[in-house]
Amino acid sequence: MKKTMLTGVRPSGNLTLGNYLGAIKNFVDRQEIYDSYIFIADLHAITSYIEPTKLKSAVYNCVAMYLACGVDPAKTVIFKQSDVLEHGTLGFIMTFQTKMGELSRMTQFKYKSQLAGKEGVDTGLFVYPTLMVADILLYNTAIVPVGKDQQQHVELTRDLAERFNKRYGEVFEMPDVYVAPVGNKICNLQNPAEKMNKSDNSDNKGTIFLMDDLAVARKKIMSAKTDDLAYVHFDEENQPGISNLMSILSKITGEDFESIEKRYAGKGYGEFKREVADVVCNLLAEIQAKYAHFNDQKVLDEILAVGAKSAKIVAKETLARTTKALGLN
Ligand code: TYM
Repeated sequence: MKKTMLTGVRPSGNLTLGNYLGAIKNFVDRQEIYDSYIFIADLHAITSYIEPTKLKSAVYNCVAMYLACGVDPAKTVIFKQSDVLEHGTLGFIMTFQTKMGELSRMTQFKYKSQLAGKEGVDTGLFVYPTLMVADILLYNTAIVPVGKDQQQHVELTRDLAERFNKRYGEVFEMPDVYVAPVGNKICNLQNPAEKMNKSDNSDNKGTIFLMDDLAVARKKIMSAKTDDLAYVHFDEENQPGISNLMSILSKITGEDFESIEKRYAGKGYGEFKREVADVVCNLLAEIQAKYAHFNDQKVLDEILAVGAKSAKIVAKETLARTTKALGLN
């Protein structure tokens, strides 16, 4: 029997090169090996205010983007989180298994609550990880491919699964996180200390959106912040900008850092950036062509309906096991 792989994206903005290289590509590369599930985390999107019409179109964009990035509905169950109500119920149950301290320690919460500042932090941001725990545990997931920023949430999932299993008996499968060695944190091209984020403004010069006009994407790469050391070398501390571009190139082409360094020995940053821009633009062109092909609401609705049906079968079974273990039924 195949093991299960699951991942998801929060439809809170247009997908970035970071989402693709850090998570979706790793999922697509493995979708045949596993029983694969990918979902649109729309319940997670309402942890902070999002205009309802925007949310709706972001969900469709996300499904079409999954398909454009190579997720194959014949091999993978594609579904929308809110179509499977068991996510909410198990999320609620898992919140009660969690200590305040555990949630306060989540770096994503700390970071986002800092941004929220004086306005106050939504409770949703605080309990968001326990919904993610439920997303993972509902499908008996063995492997969760995510970017570095989500690793801590998968580790929390393991802690809570272990705690629950100890208290109530073996109910949950223990998931492993998969964070790829290269490309797990694609950084903002203008500020390589920061992660590239889909909530960045669409005109953000440091963020490559998968739907960016190719000329715009090229310009963003050509004007990426580098350093004055003037040699192509992987050193995240002293050359974060160049290292980020090397990660992007390496993750797309599969060429290792050593080989890139050798090819560019004695050459300038301009030539290197041109190659990165070519490779990224080819990738975007391919994704955008497929996106145009798949972006048909009727087709996307059908895919989501089929996906929800398959997902519900497993989710219901896990929730029934959970409530039974708790003595709730
Ligand atoms: P989200 O929507 O912020 O990001 C989706 C995926 O993309 C990865 N990612 C990146 N990887 C590398 N470099 C970057 N700059 C970058 N930006 C984003 C994220 O790590 C993630 O893997 N909570 C999740 C969604 C979610 C989920 C789940 C994922 C909800 N439930 C269950 C896995 C399993 C989130 O907000 O991801």
